[in-house]
Amino acid sequence: MKDVTITDSILYVGVDDKTIDLFESQYEVPNGISYNSYVILDERVALMDTVDARGTAEWLVNLDKVLAGRSIDYLVVSHMEPDHAGNIKNLIDRYPKMQIVGNAKTFAMIPQFFDVDITDRSVIVKEGDTLSLGKHTLQFFMAPMVHWPEVMVAYEQSEKILFSADGFGKFGALDIDEAWTCEARRYYFNIVGKYGAQVQALLKKAAALDIQMICPLHGPILKEDLGYYIGKYDLWSKYEPEDEGVFIAYASIHGNTAKAAKKLAEMLEVKGAKRVAIADLARDDMAEAVEDAFRHDKLVVACSTYDGGLFPCMEDFLSHLKAKNFQKRTVALLENGSWAPMAAKKMREYLEGMKEITICEPVVTIKSAMKEDTLKVMEELAEKLV
Ligand code: FEO
Repeated sequence: MKDVTITDSILYVGVDDKTIDLFESQYEVPNGISYNSYVILDERVALMDTVDARGTAEWLVNLDKVLAGRSIDYLVVSHMEPDHAGNIKNLIDRYPKMQIVGNAKTFAMIPQFFDVDITDRSVIVKEGDTLSLGKHTLQFFMAPMVHWPEVMVAYEQSEKILFSADGFGKFGALDIDEAWTCEARRYYFNIVGKYGAQVQALLKKAAALDIQMICPLHGPILKEDLGYYIGKYDLWSKYEPEDEGVFIAYASIHGNTAKAAKKLAEMLEVKGAKRVAIADLARDDMAEAVEDAFRHDKLVVACSTYDGGLFPCMEDFLSHLKAKNFQKRTVALLENGSWAPMAAKKMREYLEGMKEITICEPVVTIKSAMKEDTLKVMEELAEKLV
């Protein structure tokens, strides 16, 4: 087990998963992912969530070591997604006297996932309720849609620790030494991005608490400079751009659209753009592209026309952005088509379905490959984007 220190009586029992191919069957996690789980040792023992079924064996070893023969009085279920709830039934069978703490929505979901009757072992909590363990007291706050409807967070009053469920989580195993922001941003926009208003509601509740430490369900325990992390969540959940700069996402079949996208990036750099990032949607990580679209204040979508519409990876990208509530950005269009360019029209239709999107003119239309006239339009566009 990775040695993660929290406090003398709050102990980490989670596991790292470095063998999963795709987290949630869609996200590449080159540095793995952690499934965090915590034990609070007091007069009564509470376990804060279980872990994914992929980590059961290691987690049970961790749990036994920390419990040192004690039983568990309460299992607090903050989120029913299987990466955290995968072992609920195991635990119910293992500790027959253990009570399960959740809200009304939690208890509607448990029987959907597991064949268990826990009617007389359920502790149903609602907004602001407390649970005393002895010296420690947990107070519960509902966080619906951050990122499932039953999600709740728990604030431990004596040590001022927020158990934040998926909030403030990141991709990456705990024994990997990497910066928080990049992988936390990719995690946030792809997993929680749609629910900015709900994250804002949770941040308002958190602002009323004196929080000294944040224990999320993925990624490192946050102990210092909490204002930095909370500030990032505030910015991201308001859909405000984090960096002034241009992100160019291209979908190219034979390379001519790619060449144009790269040429535009060069022009932007020459003209002094603060940041320029570029992604090949056919090959690069889609989740990273979604993250970069939210990170920058301007986006260029460059796409080949394909079967009278969009090359599929662009369609995929735009539908991801729409699903994640992409908004408040300036977007420029570059299309390619050898006989009937349609990509700009189709991309515009997608963008019109999003909030507060400003289309930056002129639209660049390439007929097969860049020529002098196209370069002129691209220069004009680059001028507008810096
Ligand atoms: Fe980490 Fe929404 O589960």
